[in-house]
Amino acid sequence: MGVVARCFSRKPISALVPEGEGVLRRALGAGDLIMLSIGAVVGAGIFSSIGTAAAGEMDAAGHIVRSGAGPAIVFAFLLSAFGCALAGLCYAELAAMIPQAGSAYAYSYATLGEVVAWIIGWDLILEYAVGNVAVAISWAGYFTSLLGGLGIHIPEWLTTGYRTALLSHDPALHGMLTTAPHILGIPILVNVPAFGIVGLITWLLLLGVRESARTNNVLVAVKLVALTLFVIVGAMHIHPANYHPFAPNGLAGIHHGAAIIFFAYIGFDAISTAAEETRNPQRNMPRGILGGLALCTVIYIIIGIVLTGMVPSSSLAVADPLSRALQIAGLGGTAGLVSLGALFALSAVLLVFQYGQPRIFFAMARDGLLPRWAERVHPRYKTPWATTIATGIFVALWSLIGDAGETFDLTNIGTLFAFVLVCAGVLVLRYKDPGRVRPFRVKFVWLVSLLGIAVCVLLMAGLPGVTWIRFVVWLVLGLLIYVLYGYRHSVVRRGAGRASEAPATRG
Ligand code: ALA
Repeated sequence: MGVVARCFSRKPISALVPEGEGVLRRALGAGDLIMLSIGAVVGAGIFSSIGTAAAGEMDAAGHIVRSGAGPAIVFAFLLSAFGCALAGLCYAELAAMIPQAGSAYAYSYATLGEVVAWIIGWDLILEYAVGNVAVAISWAGYFTSLLGGLGIHIPEWLTTGYRTALLSHDPALHGMLTTAPHILGIPILVNVPAFGIVGLITWLLLLGVRESARTNNVLVAVKLVALTLFVIVGAMHIHPANYHPFAPNGLAGIHHGAAIIFFAYIGFDAISTAAEETRNPQRNMPRGILGGLALCTVIYIIIGIVLTGMVPSSSLAVADPLSRALQIAGLGGTAGLVSLGALFALSAVLLVFQYGQPRIFFAMARDGLLPRWAERVHPRYKTPWATTIATGIFVALWSLIGDAGETFDLTNIGTLFAFVLVCAGVLVLRYKDPGRVRPFRVKFVWLVSLLGIAVCVLLMAGLPGVTWIRFVVWLVLGLLIYVLYGYRHSVVRRGAGRASEAPATRG
């Protein structure tokens, strides 16, 4: 076999489904999955990036860097949701067919070959770990402003990441590069609250899936209460004049808005990483994925209508647009409560993504594409503790110095690319393995898959050029690691039985 052909070795689906003692504990039902899904989905997108999606982005001189959707944000939500629904159907078919930890990574290993699986696993780090950097930074923003409301002020250099100052168009923020304390000539600009919340969440996850799922259920309830409060109070302060002009930047604004607001939908696929810990995944995975997605879409559209009716869209380009709209309407108390809810919402998102990422690393390590230490499972809690800690360190350190906007965009492009590969994978597998039992079958698979690819590529095209460059650099870096490590250690290509070894050897 040639080198290129070897890079495209595929893993038999039967080897993807681990059996026997010692696998991760199957503790989750369909209800837990929908809760996990809402826990992952409703977060920084609806509480934070909805503002930029509606208002667009300006530089310090007031020039438009990126146009926003205005009240037509509702269409941006629909466009994004359409792409997610198509990709979600493909996810559901594959997740039910291949109930294994590792999400799109595992599916593409069976369908498109090892190097594609590696690329997607690497790419999913953008969705999970880098996505959580964006969420942690948004969390820190709400945390800092809530503390500010209580009269507690943390020095700005302890709540602002280095890259935020570096990339900012705002002269005051950019100026922190010189005004912040320096050590050895390096400006100290660190986001301590973002670092702290990631540490706390990592610790929770190390306690195990049962405890985490229960915590998640409480957080989901709190965030739904906060959003309901916003809708009920906000609906009484709608001024129809704010709906004019409805689409201030036309189709381009809706397009950009949809690419930004896509972040609000990320996460419904995250629950597929819990397939190995789900009871009866053949039935529960599709229900969990599509049920969660449908519910979130309805919530977002209602929020979008209320928010853009309350204030002119141009005033929404802030980190906390829901609270800001309430403040503008003179409802400071409600704004504080909604901010508090946002803190819980974002914590729930952090929990689910910090849960998903280690399981992807775990699946990759089990295949030999990452070092063996990453497959360690805690003997009592049955959690992949080594990758949980590694993920915690990676996300916490990036959150300390990272920028929300940059990481939002990177997450979106990476996730959309993963969706494209999943949509392609479902079609390829229908041809390569037509006889396999599919507990959930996508109807009109050609249409769903190709349209899914088209909509996701369209959304990717709505992201800035610099995001594309960063994304390509990320992929090239990943390929280098594959060539230097994964290619040589792959279990599938070496024909060794590590993937099907008794899991007890992984302790
Ligand atoms: N959809 C998740 C959020 O908006 C990632 O925070």
